[in-house]
This record gives sequence, structure tokens and C-alpha cells, in this order.
Amino acid sequence: MTDIIDPAAPVAANDGRAETASKPEKVIVFDTTMRDGEQSPGASMSIDEKIELAKILEDMRVDVIEAGFPIASNGDFEAVRKISQIITESTVCGLARAGVADIERCADAIRPAKRGRIHTFISTSPQHRDYILQMSPEDVVNAVHASVTHARNLCGDVEWSAQDATRTERDVLRRCVEAAIRAGAGTINIPDTVGYTYPTEYAEMFRDLMENVPGADGVIFSTHCHNDLGLAVANSIAAIQAGARQVEVAINGIGERAGNTALEEVVMALKVRGDRLPYFTGVQTQHITRASRYVSAITGFPVQFNKAIVGKNAFAHEAGIHQDGMLKNAETYEIMKPEDVGQGGSNLVMGKHSGRHAFREKLKGLGYDLGQNALNEAFGRFKDLADKKKSVFDDDIIALVDDALARGADRIQVKSLRVIAGTEGPQEAHLTLVVDGAESTAMATGDGPVDAVFNAIHQLVPHGAVLRLFQVHAVTEGTDAQAQVSVRLEEDGRIATGQAADTDTLTASATAYVNALNNLFARKEKTAPEPIVASGF
Ligand code: KIV
Ligand code: ZN
Repeated sequence: MTDIIDPAAPVAANDGRAETASKPEKVIVFDTTMRDGEQSPGASMSIDEKIELAKILEDMRVDVIEAGFPIASNGDFEAVRKISQIITESTVCGLARAGVADIERCADAIRPAKRGRIHTFISTSPQHRDYILQMSPEDVVNAVHASVTHARNLCGDVEWSAQDATRTERDVLRRCVEAAIRAGAGTINIPDTVGYTYPTEYAEMFRDLMENVPGADGVIFSTHCHNDLGLAVANSIAAIQAGARQVEVAINGIGERAGNTALEEVVMALKVRGDRLPYFTGVQTQHITRASRYVSAITGFPVQFNKAIVGKNAFAHEAGIHQDGMLKNAETYEIMKPEDVGQGGSNLVMGKHSGRHAFREKLKGLGYDLGQNALNEAFGRFKDLADKKKSVFDDDIIALVDDALARGADRIQVKSLRVIAGTEGPQEAHLTLVVDGAESTAMATGDGPVDAVFNAIHQLVPHGAVLRLFQVHAVTEGTDAQAQVSVRLEEDGRIATGQAADTDTLTASATAYVNALNNLFARKEKTAPEPIVASGF
């Protein structure tokens, strides 16, 4: 059994106080980027990428990391287990449906965790009961009690969720919540699974449950919102104002369909509007931009330019009148400082004469704490980059380090590449790869240089994967900017993303493709779990 943590310990009671509270109350931040976020079509992460992301989330002081859905695949199980071994500051959580096999698999995965949590759920709404579960309300209430009881016998920290809570009849929802509390759940999550509710309605639901369900004052209520109507952040804040003391979020708001509540938006809203929202989180906000970029790179999902907090334009001022105001005083148009969220992208950092010590200090400032080997490797790459590029910016360093972290110990590596491009086709790529230590070379032509490069890879590493995404963006301004390339491949339902950064777009493309292949080969088939009927109790 993992340590029993008292989920109420750092948090004040759910007494519904909001703006009237004199002392700010803590809101637990529960990150589900690796579970609900990974359920976004096309977003899949390798185990190594998840481990790296878990470390970033721990550095950020996220309270709970939902690391996956252990029964969904061996890969998910391994990711949750490995993260449980490594992470010591945050609680590591796994998801389980209301079935014996799910809950036991989840318990096995989180067993090594210093602080582990089983998160079990069942659908409660009539739509899900009738069409997915074919269960009566009575059956669902019994399944809630049985599943939470079983989970509590295996782990001291159990969260229970009512899937599709916001479309559930209130009396049924109250009975389910009561059953979960009686069975020992410490956290009760009320998800807006289909992104259907709006702030005042959602807040009223929390107040009703907290006032009318026996035992509600002894547990933490949690909010989990989807963004189908663009209301996820507003709904989450309304729930917090009504007494929820845990908020479930994902970096960049990734998640099923329109996504989940964006971590960065809720956390910064609470921080910036502390005057009216007397709540705080433990999140070290200067790590936000790094986390956002890393998630974007490993999923291949770009962050829209005007995205709140982490978009490229979130702190850019274009209009003359705005620029004039900013020059006089930043408070004229800025409600928070870019540095508060780790946006320092335009800082010129160093050149080729910068030393190792300065480089290490720079990395620290950017939120990286690398071991000696990784530091040496990153420093070597920085020197190579500084040789090619006049000005090296913070964003260049972030791309360079994340690129190395994402690649880890790849089986296939790009050794050299020469491309003949231009108006006189066909374009030609001469490529040497190292595959499991052995070098091989190929020449291929293609419909354009990128096509030629990818054809050469195909010759050297025959595979049946289909290219689903090829995306390039410039890390900084200027013609010598590094190109950051993301490639997504799909084979037999398995999806893998790769990325790379280089001042040479074609080298970055080859490396990103090879990285995606490495991830694809490393990944065991991910099986989508069947819709659950609570089983085995
Ligand atoms: O949206 C949802 O209902 C969920 C649950 C599994 C918590 O993600
Ligand atoms: Zn969800």
C-alpha cells in the first residue's frame, strides 16, 4: 500500500467561502496533460517524454500528476510506474474505471510512489447509463461504493469522479457522491465531461453537493472541465469560488475534443486577480512557458499565437499607442510580467565565447537542472549552434535542450545529410544513418527536398508508417533562426511524434522524422479500453 496522505492537509475546509475569506486558501493543482491531454486525437507521448514532462511538472510544484491510465496499454502502465519511482514531491495518480482489473492494475502501477493516488470513475448521466453502461441509477450507486471500497483497500488516497456529472440528475449525483464518500474517497471530482455547463450553473452544483451530501465537509471537491463551449477556465474558477479546492488542468489546455482547462490560465488568473479571488496554488509560474513549449514539441500541437499566457503574442505590443504606453510604464498594457511565466524569449544570451559556467547559470534561470553528462552534451550543442548563428537567444537554448532531452537514447541516429535542391529537379538526398550502431547510406530523389530526405530514410529503415503531420516553425526571428520541426507518424493505429531543432531545416526534418520512427518502434500497441461496465465486484 502506498503512503496514506491526508488530502485535506494543506487545504482549508470546503466551507464555500470565496471573496469574503480573509486568508487566501490553497487550491490543489492536478495536472492531467499525460492522461486526458494525451487523449487528444494525435497527441501521444513516449515513456521518456512523459518522464521528462513529469519532472518539469514536479519542478513547477504541481500537486498531483495524473500520469496515465495503466490498464489502457503496457506503455501507459510503464509510464505511470516509472514516474511513480522518480517523482517524490508531487502525488502520482493513475486512472481506473470502476472495475476490479482496472483498479488493481492502477494500484500496481502507482505502488512505488512516495505519494500515490488511485483515481477511479464511472459515468453517472442518463445518456451514459443507458447507452454505454446499460445500468440503472441503483446499479451505478452500488458500483461507486464497491469500486471506491476496493481502491481504498489498495491505496490510502482515492479520488472518485462522476463522468458526465453536469448532465446527471441531481438526486442521482448526490447519491453517487455520498456512496463515494462513505466508501472512503478523499477527493470528489465533478467533471463537465462534455463541456456543457456554464459558470453560475456549475457553481450552484458544487454548492448543492457540498451543502446536501452527508460527509461532504470532510472531503476535497474537485473541478474538471472541458472546453467545448470555450468556458472551461471560467467554469473552473466558478467552481473554486463555490468551494472546490482542487482544479484539474492540462498544459496548453490540451485534451479530448476542444481540450481541458488550461493550467497556465487558471493559475495565472488566481495569481493576477488575488485581490478578488482569495486563493493560491503552489505552482512556480516561471516554469510555465517551458512546460508549454515542451508539450507543444512532443505532441506536435502548435500553440496559437494569441493563446493567453503562453502564446507568442501574449506579451507583444504592436499598435503604436500601446507601444508608447509600454515605453512610459509597462503597467499601462500589461497585467502581469512576461518573466512571471518564464517568457523571456527576446533576451540575447550568449555567443561562442560564453563559458560553461555562464551556460549552466543560464540553464538554471530557464528552469533546467541538468546532470553533468546532459550539461556537457548541451554545452557542446550550444557551442555548435553559436558557431552557426550570430545571436543565441533564450528560445534557442530551450529548443536545443528540449531537443536533446526528447531524443534520449535513440536506436536510429542521423549521421550526415547532403541535399541537392533548387529549380532543376529532381531534388536529391544523400543520407547516412546509424541504426543500432551500424552505418548505412542511401540516395533518394523526391518531389522536393523534404520528400527526398524522407524517401532516403524509408530506404534505410523500411516501415509502413504514414506521415500524419509535418510542421516547421522558426524558433526566433531572422534567416539564421533554428527551425523546429515536428513529425507525426501512424502505423496500425499507433501514433508517434518526433521533433528536432537545427539551423538547417532539412537536417531538422530528417532528425525529427527519425525521432518519430524511434518513438514508434519503442511503443507497444496502445489499445483503447472498452467502455466499462463495472465488473468483478
Ligand atoms: O472528462 C471526464 O469526465 C474525465 C474523467 C475520466 C475524470 O476525464
Ligand atoms: Zn476529462
